[in-house]
Amino acid sequence: MKVMVIGGGGREHAIVKKLKENRNITELYCLPGNGGIARDATCVNIGATELERILEFAKAHRIDYAVVAPDDPLALGAVDLLEEAGIACFGPRKNAAIIESSKVFAKDLMKRYHIPTACCEVFSDLEAALSYLQTAPMPIVVKADGLALGKGVFIAQTLLEAEEAVRAMMADKRFGKSGERVVIEEFLEGPEVSVLSFTDGKTVVPMISSMDHKRAGEGDTGLNTGGMGTLAPNPYFTPAVAERCMQEIFLPTVLAMAQEGRPFKGCLYFGLMLTKDGPKVIEYNCRFGDPETQVVLPLLKTDLLTVMQAVTDGNLADCPVEFFDGAAACVIMASEGYPGSYGKGYPITIPAADWERVYVAGAKEQDGQLVSSGGRVLGVCAVAPTLPQALKEAYERVGRIHFDHAYYRRDIGKRALAVGEA
Ligand code: AMP
Ligand code: GLY
Repeated sequence: MKVMVIGGGGREHAIVKKLKENRNITELYCLPGNGGIARDATCVNIGATELERILEFAKAHRIDYAVVAPDDPLALGAVDLLEEAGIACFGPRKNAAIIESSKVFAKDLMKRYHIPTACCEVFSDLEAALSYLQTAPMPIVVKADGLALGKGVFIAQTLLEAEEAVRAMMADKRFGKSGERVVIEEFLEGPEVSVLSFTDGKTVVPMISSMDHKRAGEGDTGLNTGGMGTLAPNPYFTPAVAERCMQEIFLPTVLAMAQEGRPFKGCLYFGLMLTKDGPKVIEYNCRFGDPETQVVLPLLKTDLLTVMQAVTDGNLADCPVEFFDGAAACVIMASEGYPGSYGKGYPITIPAADWERVYVAGAKEQDGQLVSSGGRVLGVCAVAPTLPQALKEAYERVGRIHFDHAYYRRDIGKRALAVGEA
């Protein structure tokens, strides 16, 4: 069987490594992939949003199955295009990917189907948004409607900050078209949980829960990033919380999308906040999370391709999905300065024995040497019977890996471990 994965970061590396366990896959491609993924799949220099070239490649190489991992190609309709050409895909069609690509759509869906989320108002007029803010309680959250590389969310402590955020999006067009409409929503408090799920549009199977660490600095300070570390399972996501989320959020969302004529097939990511009034949706993503995937997939016991095909075929209800009992941790090694400006081209050394649990996010091969090429460079992971062990082993592995100007948070898992002690 010939399989291609679209994308080129740490998440795609984790997907590729898991798919490789399936012996029926004879050829595995990644478009564009990266210098680390090249160890596990054949990388092809076609960008994730070059849809016509992707289709051409898939036809020429008689690809049997495609996994579209990033949000951009999904929002552009990569799955629609490939499926129309007869290529089976994992990922939602464009009309379902909108659950991530338009926050206005997502908020409206939740409102109409009574799915718990932060109260909000939507604005497409700058003056109306500014006038609303005058009497709104602070802190408040300002979000750009469209995709913004995870940077379109601003938590304002004061009226001045909120006004600045709205102006940056609506007047200065900092996020281009994505900021033409803004969502202004209630500030929620509580522990955050990420739950990735498989869904075929009817059945929803949550994967093991995870916790992201979004801020750049230790103690959850500094700028928001794409994620500086993850762990799974998330200790806040108890069986009672899981059951409540299933009934109040997961199932209602999947059924709502089907009812709207937008059946969601693929990985639906629930970003949740466990507030004192119960779990609420912070965001939906129409894809695997990065770096959540790096801790979730290593714990998946069932063959990944089998589950993905059950999703595509609409047979998920008949496909048992099992996870291992242990825990996993991932520490992101970034290039100093990220998410601001950072250097590139630093040679990376990784002991051979550690490669199994290293997922490469931003590195390329140059004259036979792996060198950094992005802000987030490596996801250094470990799987162990318990969370404290997984964290310890991930940090030990970090200690054996070297590149100049490497930066990583030393406190990944600190909060999660404190839950265990409480
Ligand atoms: P998002 O890109 O939507 O995941 O938002 C980024 C981060 O902003 C989330 O992980 C939360 O920590 C925070 N956030 C988003 N919405 C809210 C909210 N309504 N209240 C408090 N924090 C929020
Ligand atoms: N780690 C959060 C995301 O993938 O959006």
